[in-house]
Amino acid sequence: MTSTSLPDSLIATLPGVSYTDPGIFAQEQERIFETMWFCVARAADLATPGAFRTVDVGRESILVTRARDQSIRAYFNVCRHRGARLCTEESGEVKRAFQCPYHAWTYDLNGKLVAAPNLTKMPDVGRTEYGLVSVATREWLGYVWVCLAENPPPFEEEVIGDVVGRLGDVESIERYDIDRLSVGRRIVYDVRANWKLIIENFMECYHCATIHPELTEVLPEFADGYAAQFYVGHGAEFGEEVQGFTVDGSEGLDRIPGVSQEQDRRYYAITVRPQVFINLVPDHVIFHRMYPLAVDRTVVECDWLYLPHVVDGGKDVSRSVELFDRVNRQDFEACERTQPGMSSRLYAKGGVLVPSEHHIGAFHDWVTERLGARPQQERHMGV
Ligand code: FES
Ligand SMILES: [Fe+2]
Repeated sequence: MTSTSLPDSLIATLPGVSYTDPGIFAQEQERIFETMWFCVARAADLATPGAFRTVDVGRESILVTRARDQSIRAYFNVCRHRGARLCTEESGEVKRAFQCPYHAWTYDLNGKLVAAPNLTKMPDVGRTEYGLVSVATREWLGYVWVCLAENPPPFEEEVIGDVVGRLGDVESIERYDIDRLSVGRRIVYDVRANWKLIIENFMECYHCATIHPELTEVLPEFADGYAAQFYVGHGAEFGEEVQGFTVDGSEGLDRIPGVSQEQDRRYYAITVRPQVFINLVPDHVIFHRMYPLAVDRTVVECDWLYLPHVVDGGKDVSRSVELFDRVNRQDFEACERTQPGMSSRLYAKGGVLVPSEHHIGAFHDWVTERLGARPQQERHMGV
């Protein structure tokens, strides 16, 4: 099976090795995750100064926190003295400063070195020069995004551009007021599959009729196998009998007021490369972040976001959450079922994409291009 002998209906996927080789994964970490904007946290999870979260971005651990002036800051989670990891917890809160557990170098929330044993006897040590090294941050849709590149690409083009490419314009997502919604449920999935299998799965709906009985009940057009991401601006319409985006099609929660007439009773799915999926329905937003941890392991953190009064009022969101939780589990099970096949000799040259999956070919070209491109200048810790 070579690409030259494929029938017109089929195009080739990436070869199996792209999903199994730790060397290729390391290149992806360096040239994709460490150079692009990467979504790391819900800003509201860092509610007060000193609240922090640590996240692996590519090969680096990044410490995200809120400073006294309420701004979000992100730093390499590496002590400037002899390199100990500053914070080992996934999340937590400090009062005023981060103190390294090794020799007690202490950094304030702006990253400045404010104390260290015998520091006064070393007056030539610059407090900023030997402070924590920061990385670029942006807040959008109520989420914090970081970029480890020395010269970050324009956020508007890279992140907002992906959303506009899918929906046609930025207002279409702004109407959902995502930054003002509250987290009604968060579920973290530990998926034994390569991150690209998860993206590919999310991009197509050829599998919907086979593995998503509840979803195709709510969105009948998904049974035809055409993904909501296939046509620009298109949202899949709810079935006639369906009252809401819930596991049994029963009524959902209060509708987000800004949602337009055309967007009502429709589902929109968006992939923001390299690791975010957003799903929009009239009464909630389902926001996924993927954290690729190894060539065959990806953690997916998923938030169900509702109007604040829905969450604060303790309304029952369980039927609403259950629909996409089931969809996620069905999808991730399919990805885990696929991962072992990637190392089969049969898949050495890859598989094939049918016409309703051809847009995944563009994703593969994009990945290949990123890995072929010259790596961006390495960021170094020293000044
Ligand atoms: S390594 Fe952090 S204080 Fe020494
Ligand atoms: Fe799916």
